[in-house]
Formats: sequence, C-alpha cells, structure tokens
Amino acid sequence: MRARLVVGNWKMNPPTIEDAVELARAVAALPRSSAKLGIAPPAVALAAVADAVRGRDLAVFAQDVHWEEKGAFTGQISATMVRGLAEGAIVGHSEVRRDQGDDDVRVARKLARAVAAGLRPILCVGESEAEFVAGESTNVVARQISADLAALVRGSVGRLVVAYEPIWAIGTGRPATGAHATAAARAIRTALRGMDVDADAVPVLYGGSVSAKSVVEFARADGIDGALVGGASLDPDEFGAIVRAFT
Ligand code: 13P
Repeated sequence: MRARLVVGNWKMNPPTIEDAVELARAVAALPRSSAKLGIAPPAVALAAVADAVRGRDLAVFAQDVHWEEKGAFTGQISATMVRGLAEGAIVGHSEVRRDQGDDDVRVARKLARAVAAGLRPILCVGESEAEFVAGESTNVVARQISADLAALVRGSVGRLVVAYEPIWAIGTGRPATGAHATAAARAIRTALRGMDVDADAVPVLYGGSVSAKSVVEFARADGIDGALVGGASLDPDEFGAIVRAFT
C-alpha cells in the first residue's frame, strides 16, 4: 500500500518569517498519524522553518524551483539551493503556470532539475474550468503527465508525487467530488504507465478547496493517497483535522 501524504502549500503566507516558524512548530506538534506530513513555506522562510522543524517527522517542500541550474536569473531559486533546506519541491502549480508563464516544456525542465538535485517532486496537474465543463478533464491531465515527464531521464522519476488540482476548485470553496478525483487519478496513472513509470508506487494527492469538512470525500476516494492543501493549511487545527481524515 502507498504511504499517505498530506502537504500544506502556504503560498504567499503567512506575512512574516516569525509567523512561518510559529506555524511550522504548530504543525510539527500535531498528533502523529499514519499519514506523512509536509509543509511548503515561502522560499524566504525555508531556512528558518527547516531549522525549526529539524529532527521532527515533518517534510519541508519548496513551492517552486527554476529550470536552470544557475546563472543570471534575478529573483529565482535553483533546485540545488533548495537541497539541504527541503526534502522536495512543488513543480507546475497552476498559479505558477498562470503568473509566470510556465508551459509544459518549462514544467518538464523544472521537474527534471528537481529530480537531478535529489529533491522529491510534487508535480501539479489539473484542468481549467472550461476544460472541465467540456468534459476534457481526464484528457487534459493525461496530456500534462506525458508532457511534464518528457525531460526526465528514463527510470529517474525519483520519489515522484502527483497532485491533481483542478484549477476551478482552487481557492473557490467548490471542491471536486471524490468520484471526479478518482477518475483523474486513474487517467494520471494510465499516463504514467505510458511513460514507463511504476504508477502504483506514485502517490496521487487531491488539491482544491480541501477543508476539514470536504476532506472526507477525498480520504475515501479510490486512488487518492492524500491532499495538497492551500488555505486550510494555515490553520493548524483545521490542517490537523484534514491529516486525521487520511489516517
Ligand atoms: P486551496 O486549498 O486554498 O483551494 O488551494 C489548493 C492549492 O492550490 C494547493 O496547492
């Protein structure tokens, strides 16, 4: 059986590094469950948070890495820089795709860079509202998986995690259904097999308006092994309730 994993993506929160350390300590103090726990603080807080939770059973992730290893890329952070501070990195989040113009070619390069640096990648895929309405969800995620894994050296997926995050469900209070997430997870794993990846070993998380209330649906959903949680991960009590649902 695949290990369950719940990761809090803090996005551009909380406001100060001190607040981030405090939140990380609160998450580290949550009662342990069988699900593995992770947090993805903003890049400026990574070092302080990594220090604060060292030795605790809490994985730290970066929210993004650059596709090049080093050089003249003002404001960017390389996978190598992240190594030592974090166990892994989120790659291909829809907000980064939207705000920084990342297409699948760039996401593929970021994923390859993260794997080469020894980071555990959480690759995000998911369809837009229009694609959802058009009934294209499973086709879109299958296409993204094939394109986003294209730059990986064969057999080097590392400890890949895939997060299925339908864009229309992120931050809207309108989560997908468990059945929809299961169908997406199935399409993701079929596409992974098409890339010669041992899909049964890859955890697939659901993300998009996961809360203490909505999580029940996804904790029960076939093929879903955990959650990537945005807003609700900023409240340790609510995040704790989400984690417990995946126990
Ligand atoms: P919300 O849980 O705030 O909808 O965000 C989901 C997300 O984007 C996690 O990466």
